[in-house]
Amino acid sequence: MPCSQCRGIEAFFDDNEARSELKNYRKKGPRNTTRQLLNAIVERDPKDKTLLDIGGGVGAIQHELIKAGIRSAVSVDASSAYARVSLDETVVRGHADRLTHHLGDFVDLADSIESADIVTLDRVICCYDDASRLLERSTERATRMLGLVYPRDGLPNRAAVWLLNLGLRIRRSDFRLFIHPNTLVTGILEGAGFRRVHLRKNLIWQVVLYERIGSQRL
Ligand SMILES: C[S@@+](CC[C@H](N)C(=O)[O-])C[C@H]1O[C@@H](n2cnc3c(N)ncnc32)[C@H](O)[C@@H]1O
Repeated sequence: MPCSQCRGIEAFFDDNEARSELKNYRKKGPRNTTRQLLNAIVERDPKDKTLLDIGGGVGAIQHELIKAGIRSAVSVDASSAYARVSLDETVVRGHADRLTHHLGDFVDLADSIESADIVTLDRVICCYDDASRLLERSTERATRMLGLVYPRDGLPNRAAVWLLNLGLRIRRSDFRLFIHPNTLVTGILEGAGFRRVHLRKNLIWQVVLYERIGSQRL
């Protein structure tokens, strides 16, 4: 990750943001798109499987799938505040023995991270400039399923992100948002041997679940 985006993530996803996300999650549960991704995974009975949650934030996917019976989860997040809050929540929920946390850019850490049955990137590729490398490294680590929530690449989202990035530039933030072409995402996943088994869209987001061709169903 270019250093400016690294610094941007660290400053943008700070302690206040992490605490407020955790408060919302405790009060209302996972956000809608996360819930949709979770439902698509749970429908495939993930009991005893392993999870790698990249950019997991406060850990909604990890906590919910542990509740649903997965064997263990690994979280990799580039924000130290999110990693801290997520680790604290793991202890509060009493499943610290089933969850491992790594702090850093997944692209840099991927070689040292074990493969998992299920890999998730929930609203993560839009925070990263080099979506190709992030997705390629993610597919290498996914033995069965790869789930994503990412923004649709139409004009309305592009215009909104342009405005948001203008605001960030004016506030002198190093953080930027990215709308990556849908064809890039699907091309990388299909090229890596995955086929789409779930798709849901709202005005802003798309929720997709891919299955590795030839892998046994969960
Ligand atoms: C918008 S938040 C989403 C958090 C959570 N997945 C959710 O949907 O609530 C994006 C998260 O991705 C993380 N992130 C972005 N790029 C990353 C990368 N290359 N490696 C690890 N984490 C990354 C950020 O630190 C942040 O926690």
